Amino acid sequence: MKMSGLLLFFVGILIKVCNGQELTMTLESEASYEGNPTTLSCSYTILDNTYELFDLEWFKGDSFTGPSTLKIADFWRAAASPSYYNGYDDSSQYLVSRDNDNSVSSFDIFNVGFSNDRGRYWCRVTVRPIGGTGPVGEKASTDLIVYSPPDIPVISGSLTMTEDMATTLTCTADLGYPDDWYLAWSNEGTPIENQPDTTAVLSRTSQRFMFTSQLEFTPKRQDNTHFITCTASRALWTSTPLPEKTWGPINVQYEGNITNKHLTEVGIGGGLTANLTCIAKGNPEPTITWLDPDGVEIINGGNGNKYMVVESYTTSDTDLTIGNVTTSTLSIWAVDPQVDYGVYACNSNNGIGQADKHEIIVNRTRVPDQPTGVVLTDQTSSSLAVRWSAGYDGGETQWFHVSHKKTADSSETFSDMIEGGVTTYNVDGLESYTEYEIQVYAENDVGRNPSPGSILEYTLPGVPTSDSGFTLLFDSNEGTVKIDGLNANNGECIQLEVKREGISGWASCGDCIETNGTFTLSYWCLQTRKRRGRAIGDVEMVRAKLCQLTSQLCGDFINVMEPENTPVTNPPVSSTTGTAVGVTVGVISIALIVVFALGLFFWSKKNKNRNGPAEEINLTTQRKPKGLEQKRYGLEGTAEYQEVADIVEPTDRTYANVLFKDKSFPRDMLKIIKELGHGAFGEVFLAEATGILKKSKVTLVAVKTLKEGASQSDKDDLLRELDLMKKLPDHKNVVRLMGFSVEQDPLYIIVEYLSKGNLKDLMKDSRVKGTRVYGNLHGASKSLSSGDLMKFANDVADGMHYISSQKCIHRDLAARNVLVAQDMTCKVSDFGLARDVIDNRVYERKSEGRLPLRWMALESILDEMYTTKSDVWSFGVLLWEIVTLGARPYPTMSAKLMLKQLRIGFRMPQPTHCQEELYEMMLKCWEEEPDRRPTFERIADELRQMRELDKDYIVVNAYEETIYAVTIPDGEQEKC
Ligand code: ADE
Repeated sequence: MKMSGLLLFFVGILIKVCNGQELTMTLESEASYEGNPTTLSCSYTILDNTYELFDLEWFKGDSFTGPSTLKIADFWRAAASPSYYNGYDDSSQYLVSRDNDNSVSSFDIFNVGFSNDRGRYWCRVTVRPIGGTGPVGEKASTDLIVYSPPDIPVISGSLTMTEDMATTLTCTADLGYPDDWYLAWSNEGTPIENQPDTTAVLSRTSQRFMFTSQLEFTPKRQDNTHFITCTASRALWTSTPLPEKTWGPINVQYEGNITNKHLTEVGIGGGLTANLTCIAKGNPEPTITWLDPDGVEIINGGNGNKYMVVESYTTSDTDLTIGNVTTSTLSIWAVDPQVDYGVYACNSNNGIGQADKHEIIVNRTRVPDQPTGVVLTDQTSSSLAVRWSAGYDGGETQWFHVSHKKTADSSETFSDMIEGGVTTYNVDGLESYTEYEIQVYAENDVGRNPSPGSILEYTLPGVPTSDSGFTLLFDSNEGTVKIDGLNANNGECIQLEVKREGISGWASCGDCIETNGTFTLSYWCLQTRKRRGRAIGDVEMVRAKLCQLTSQLCGDFINVMEPENTPVTNPPVSSTTGTAVGVTVGVISIALIVVFALGLFFWSKKNKNRNGPAEEINLTTQRKPKGLEQKRYGLEGTAEYQEVADIVEPTDRTYANVLFKDKSFPRDMLKIIKELGHGAFGEVFLAEATGILKKSKVTLVAVKTLKEGASQSDKDDLLRELDLMKKLPDHKNVVRLMGFSVEQDPLYIIVEYLSKGNLKDLMKDSRVKGTRVYGNLHGASKSLSSGDLMKFANDVADGMHYISSQKCIHRDLAARNVLVAQDMTCKVSDFGLARDVIDNRVYERKSEGRLPLRWMALESILDEMYTTKSDVWSFGVLLWEIVTLGARPYPTMSAKLMLKQLRIGFRMPQPTHCQEELYEMMLKCWEEEPDRRPTFERIADELRQMRELDKDYIVVNAYEETIYAVTIPDGEQEKC
């Protein structure tokens, strides 16, 4: 055992002076811990130099009684070298030594024992006149205190318990010293919350203490087979191991429940054998009994051998609950349609809690159930791939047919037969950017279910080739791209990407262009940070894709050529062919360089941090989705991040001790109903979850998952989001995690469903549309009052106060990431970018990703520094979104201009319909110095006070429609 040096202290100093002032001496001892070494030290000074040391002796005993006191060591001045004893035994437990020069004698005990070594020690020094006789002596004493851990504790109580019923476990540990030891309880290594007190009683015989602690333990089924531990601990005790007793495995008995209730029907033809299966899990193992359609209990071999029941037993630990599983199969031989069809029931009972019951209908075979949950899995300009969930097969082998038709047409085209085990299909040969209705019919030998599962989806826009009426020309000399043939009335736009000399990969290039014309790349494509300080204008290649503004869908890229290059040598990026034309490659003009250099100047940074590896605006080209909007529902890939201060120990993590929410939920209890939204790599579905809140109760939930083909890093991102949500205890203004299923692909995160969707759309939908049509219309709200809007702001501030109190930074706070419940409560959502931090830890973005630039604090854009204070900045922007009923921030500015202006102190002006106090709050959130920004707590309090004053802080009917019309479209490289 090792003793902490910090714990050394002196327990006694005595000074004695001889009558004749010949000698002074002290005796000191250290605090000592059983099993550790300690030293007693006796120092003396001979005051009269006519005296010399005659003898030095060590004794042990409560009082000094001269020769009868236990003598441990004796130095005789006549000895040639210091003689010493190894105690009274030969076990080398003690060492007594003397240092003549320093007039010190020390008494070392190598392994202090409570019983043997505790007590009073004496040191006696005797001097006498040099060469003379008549020694005089003096003695000093010290009490050696020995701290000792108690013995291994003993636990008593019952090993068998019942779920949800309190039981008492008693832990006792004897023979500890002093009385400040306590007994700590843990369950499978995790400390039990609300630890009971420990009582200490002095044992009359041993002079030590006996400690007792009683734990009131209410087990859950998840505790079954767990080990409970009682550990004796002491705050100042650093020696290991601590005495502890592990007790278990405990046997937690819990109700037996039927686990395959989704099997409700068996279709069977006359004369055949029907097999009905019930599976029940519980502890102890459930007994399953069967009832026939008349409610009479079925006996194995009963009804003239018509019934046969076979039972098997296993244990299982699905859902982390160890239990006994009983599987019972009832076979009904040679089914007679006249008498055997009907409702059979199985009952499960294991004597704990309630019995469980499940009914299974035995019926003639019938057409299969309608397929459900038809969703789009892939989309090109000529194909739509779908996936669905098969329903009950009607008791026969089922298969599917997929039909498709343009929504505008009536004639359907049917696929060949698709085998029942296959639930995906790719409809091809479709027209570009056309809406199709795709229907999935289930069929079996009995017939086809006339109700299909269906979905309406658009194909992607085609490629902008001359065949489709486009002319796209790249003039490398001028650094321009000319676009012709764009039909703005159809909501078309062209998205450009450039490849620069010496840089691999394509860089996303500005906003989607909605008008024909000639576009200067230096203006349109923001320069990347990697390019700072280099000659600019060296765009080697340009490619373009056709997008559709309202649906935000885009087709495949095609390379934009210069006139000399023939179309034949320039295949489009995708398999789709296209035509391109080009012009001569020329020398880069000085003017172009100047334009780029100016751009660079504004983007360059002052310090080393700002020269990090990530690109500033254009961050992903690899993961660029087909849709314009990469982050609609928060499932898209996010950048990787690096913790800057990960050496800091998470000492005060608020949720460090919170048990992870164990909400694993069986995926077969989820019924997907429809898609709520999707992004490039993720999808969100509305689903029914059976039993997620209460047994057998169906609850609507939102299920976040990844699209087929999502990468490992997308999975990691989703898992990270899940981890974070698991650690966040529920709060009324934060979207609640209800469950997850991650043991197989696709990963599912189940969160509460918020029926009013996201705040941005809700506010935009509430606007009264004016007569003029702008890209992002504004108007007075037809349905939201100033009070509603202030409540939204207050809800978000409360949610963010809570999130920040949990040491978590959101990093993507915006109205699009706030969801609204049926009762209009706002909840912060979308933790795809969030990170947990400790106090003032800061995150540094490591790799590339699309950024919510318009919501980001200056230091986040410039230095990639994210803190709660940068979330406060985003909240200011969100407040502005609320006041403008969901307008796009900095509506008249490109992201580049916005940044330039922000750096010189510009902030969005006060919306006319927004009162001074609210605008002041925004300005405080946008303080350049993060520490000058208010806390979320303060913001929430201020908003609450404003609401109490009942004044119209937002004059909802005084909107100036045109001010917020978007003149600069959203950048592809930024979130919007
Ligand atoms: N869209 C994304 N997540 C959602 C949720 N939890 N509820 C409603 N719509 C959503």
